[in-house]
Order: sequence, then structure tokens, then C-alpha cells
Amino acid sequence: MTPLDTATQDAITRAAALMARARHTVVLAGAGMSKESGIPTFRGDGGLWTINGEPPLNQYETFAADPRRWWERRIEEAAQPSDFAAAIDDAQPNPGHRALAELERMGAVAHLITQNIDDLHRRAGQESITEIHGNRHWMRCVACGMRWPKAEYIVDATELPPRCTQDGCGGIVKSDTVMFGEPIPALALERCARETRRADCFMTIGTSAVVYPAAGYPIDATRRGVPLIEINPEETPLTPLATVVVRAPSGEALPALIELLRTHRNGSTTTP
Ligand code: APR
Repeated sequence: MTPLDTATQDAITRAAALMARARHTVVLAGAGMSKESGIPTFRGDGGLWTINGEPPLNQYETFAADPRRWWERRIEEAAQPSDFAAAIDDAQPNPGHRALAELERMGAVAHLITQNIDDLHRRAGQESITEIHGNRHWMRCVACGMRWPKAEYIVDATELPPRCTQDGCGGIVKSDTVMFGEPIPALALERCARETRRADCFMTIGTSAVVYPAAGYPIDATRRGVPLIEINPEETPLTPLATVVVRAPSGEALPALIELLRTHRNGSTTTP
């Protein structure tokens, strides 16, 4: 790992000072968090959408129009996973995921809103988390919102689409991953809004901040005067709103942040 340059170290020091003063820091994470785990981002250099073009925005409409056909295609595709699916299945949490979970254990991060569906935050030990775009290892009933780990929900290919067995619901079951055009489950939205209202410090990590409602939460927080920390090697639409900008990969910035917060905790540095 190349040592962080002076400007980045200074930015991380200022970010640590903001977090040391805060009581409820909320984080919004994006695909950049998982890039160092070998999972491509969607946008920017080498991004999935950059290479293949954005997916159809009516994915959910297509699913709802013929869920049986959607499931038949999913079962066919399962035999030859895409490169993206293979990258996610092979991925391990990286130092950024592990550092973010440590920041939660230290009490420095109160809640994580992640746009990532890869489960790597949970596998790294993150507990207070809202997976606003779902989790690809879970299934969900579109009617009642009941969720099951995929490993515990065996799809009977002779009975498609699979139906919810919860209290006679009978709703259609799909992957928990939120499709383009699909309503985000209300409980997830309520939790994100509640945590954003409680935030007295907000940090974005590895997101291009172009997809809503996720990108709206840091904006809502800054409108209340809440300081915003952006960790991203590239500029984003949120950069002008940021109090501190850390132009570094999350796998390098977050471990450095832990060390500085520990020194703050020990009182061995003055707050700049
Ligand atoms: N560390 C931190 N950030 C990084 C790193 C890294 N190592 N590498 C790249 N990035 C940044 C890029 O600069 C970019 O700003 O991560 C961001 C990734 O942006 P996107 O690919 O747009 O991912 P994200 O913001 O999560 O997309 C939001 O869009 O397509 C939908 O549902 C999908 O959840 C996704 C949503």
C-alpha cells in the first residue's frame, strides 16, 4: 500500500476530528467500497455500466408483467453466472469493510446505509446497517416484505413463480435485490430517513451519489448544517457540499481514520 500523501493525511485528521466530536455519525456506502474486493463499480473507469451500458430502467415492470418467465430466465442464468455475479461470489471483505465495522464497534459510526448488495459489510461484522438496495443472498416477498436467506429458501422450478408462505400471504417471492423501477421496501426507507434525521455527522464512502433516494440522505443532512465527509478517489456531485474530502481509496482511508480516532480518544492530539 502506497503511503497516503500529506494532503490526504491532513483530510483524514480533519475527518477524525469531526467524528470525534459527533455523537451519531451516519455513513452512506457505495460500490467503491467493494472495488478493493475485486467487485467492479457500476460507473467510472472499468464500471459495469461504463462497459455494458446502463441496464433497462424498467426491470421491475418486466418482472411484474411475467414473474414466471422472469424466474425461468433466472434459473437458466444460474447455470452460467455472469462475471459480476462470479466476482461477488468470490469476494471477501477488504480492509475498508473491516475498518468500517471497527468504527462501529468503537462507537464512531452509528449506522451504515449501504447501496451494495454483496453482503460484505455484514461479513466484516457491521451490525447497524440498512441495505437500501437489498442483499443478493436473500429472497423477499413483494407483497408482505417477508425475507429469507437464499440458502433457506429452495425454489421449486416446477412451481414458478415461488409464493410467500407467511400467514397465507401467497405473494410472489423474488431476489431481495431491488431492481430498477422497483419500490424500495418502506421499512428500509423509514430507517434511512430516521438515521439521517439523527445524524450530527455524515460520511459518504465510494458512491458516485447519482442514484436516489440514497444520494438524498447526505444532502438532507447538510441542509441541517451537518458536516459531510466524502471518501472517494474521484469528485462527485456531493463534493461541493463536503466539509472534508478524502481523495483516497476506502481500503486505505478507513484504517488510517481508525488510528487517528484512537489518538483522539486517548486525548493525545488537539482537535484542529
Ligand atoms: N474506494 C472508494 N471509492 C472508490 C474506489 C475505492 N477504492 N474505487 C472507486 N470508487 C468510487 C468511484 O469514484 C465512484 O464515485 O466509487 C464510486 C462508485 O460509483 P458507482 O459505480 O456509481 O456506484 P454507486 O454509487 O454505489 O451506485 C449507486 O447505482 O446502478 C445503481 O444499484 C446500483 O447501488 C448502485 C447505485
